[in-house]
Amino acid sequence: MTDAHRAPHPSMTTHQWTISLPDQPATHQLGVQLGQLLLAGSTLLLNGNLGSGKTTLVQGIGAGLGITEPIVSPTFTLISEYFEGRLPLYHLDLYRLQPPEVNELHLEVYWEAGEYPLGIVAIEWAERLPEPPPDCLQIRLTSLPNGRQADFSASGAFHQQALQQLQASFPQP
Ligand SMILES: Nc1ncnc2c1ncn2[C@@H]1O[C@H](COP(=O)(O)OP(=O)(O)O)[C@@H](O)[C@H]1O
Ligand SMILES: [Mg+2]
Repeated sequence: MTDAHRAPHPSMTTHQWTISLPDQPATHQLGVQLGQLLLAGSTLLLNGNLGSGKTTLVQGIGAGLGITEPIVSPTFTLISEYFEGRLPLYHLDLYRLQPPEVNELHLEVYWEAGEYPLGIVAIEWAERLPEPPPDCLQIRLTSLPNGRQADFSASGAFHQQALQQLQASFPQP
């Protein structure tokens, strides 16, 4: 992680983007593109109801990173770590936890350099994080009558740049 990444951002402006995902392969492909372009130190906060496609997106990220091991929902294991791809992938699911319990897990070890090699942290039910990292890419998935919608919101220069790259990797309407 560079100093620029850690420095406070004067205005903490956010960059936003929305994409519609008509079917399951669209969600998976969005993940693949994220897995191909994200840099080490990326933190993705995934929000959205049960069945909105969070795990599907992370499965795509795994494929984009080159992970061949099956990525299964960590609802019961809380945390799955994959070291086989271009970068480590840390897949978390906080569904079964309450915010005070989440605090005790000290999940910041996954996005602060030191204990774990920096990689991509993808957190399902990230709204259960009492202290979300200030620099992050938030992805809200919504179920629609026809498929899903993903609303992105990037905080901090590092994740804003990632979101701009993601946007650029899709054909412009
Ligand atoms: N864009 C989409 N349109 C329709 N179905 C989708 C889409 N994305 C994912 N799905 C399907 O939704 C279901 C639930 O997805 P999942 O990723 O397990 O959700 P979550 O992790 O948010 O609970 C799966 O059957 C998946 O194939
Ligand atoms: Mg899930």
